[in-house]
Amino acid sequence: MSKTIAVTGGLGFIGSHTVVEMIKAGYTPIIIDDLSNSTLNVLDGIEKISGIRPVCYTLNILETTELEAILSTHRVEAVIHFAAFKAVGESVIKPLEYYHNNISGLISLLNAMKKTNVRNLVFSSSCTVYGQPKELPVNELSPMIKAESPYGNTKKIGEEILIDISKTGHKTILLRYFNPVGAHPSALIGELPLGIPNNLVPFITQTAAGWRNQLTVFGNDYKTPDGTCIRDYIHVVDLALAHVKAVEHLEKTELMYSAFNIGTGKGSTVLEVIEAFEETTGISLNYKIGKRRDGDIEKVWADSTKANTELGWKANLDLNQMMKDAWEWQCQLPTK
Ligand code: UD1
Repeated sequence: MSKTIAVTGGLGFIGSHTVVEMIKAGYTPIIIDDLSNSTLNVLDGIEKISGIRPVCYTLNILETTELEAILSTHRVEAVIHFAAFKAVGESVIKPLEYYHNNISGLISLLNAMKKTNVRNLVFSSSCTVYGQPKELPVNELSPMIKAESPYGNTKKIGEEILIDISKTGHKTILLRYFNPVGAHPSALIGELPLGIPNNLVPFITQTAAGWRNQLTVFGNDYKTPDGTCIRDYIHVVDLALAHVKAVEHLEKTELMYSAFNIGTGKGSTVLEVIEAFEETTGISLNYKIGKRRDGDIEKVWADSTKANTELGWKANLDLNQMMKDAWEWQCQLPTK
């Protein structure tokens, strides 16, 4: 019989792609989402791609009692937890909201899981926990540093809470994402634009579409080959597949706690991303070089050997595919 997996934030960018891949792998995902950064229309996209319209509850995860009812009614085997705020800059302005939503939300979920005896969790973490690593590529044993932002700190604290809970019979896999970009190749699901994007790729596609005038490249005086920052961009479909592997691994592993870097292992500069976009789409992007952005780290890319060997997961899609899918998604969005 198909196993039921609860996906909090399952209508969001990474969540919706993961729901699709879980269905394809034979699981029954049920979605819990408060629609704070998504809409119910995402369900149409999921249904068109997968042929299945998953059960979806509009609920904030702080509602512990309702969560308990959902977990027990559906006999949930594991939870994939995406529901969290994720804007670095906003978290500096609204730290309390971030700690409340991301940390109290996690605790509420863990309480509901404990009450209903659901023991397996996949947690969305981030490469932000490493800050600027001294050695690259960064592996899971690299030291974690003090977070630059309240958002980053909620990921670090979330990880620490889960380590403590793992000593009480709760099994966790932490997936440390590098920079998720792109969209489903069908262009039926993707990242929903909300205001001015902070992240590079949505800013690129919105500039190319004429929604924004010009992209500013934040600094070209870093110690990198072309002076711009390096990140490990990963296609959201590859990232979604890592969650399927993580759920499978949770069922088998005896380890109560493990962390995995989820990246391609390849770093790209901002200018290389722009070049890949221009090459794939044939569009010349209007950009200028500006000042460095506060809090940006110079370079980071992943050593994902552990995920390759232990989870049996590997990223397959390259930067050109990421740009192509991000652009096709942008093109079908209603005009601004
Ligand atoms: C950061 C976090 C990531 C988090 C994400 C959420 C790190 C290493 N990464 O991603 O964990 O999930 O925020 O928002 O801390 N850039 C421009 N112009 C723009 C926008 C971005 O040049 O208009 C550059 C940035 O300077 C950076 C690169 O593009 O070098 C990527 O930026 P962005 O997409 O915002 O992601 P991170 O800051 O790496």
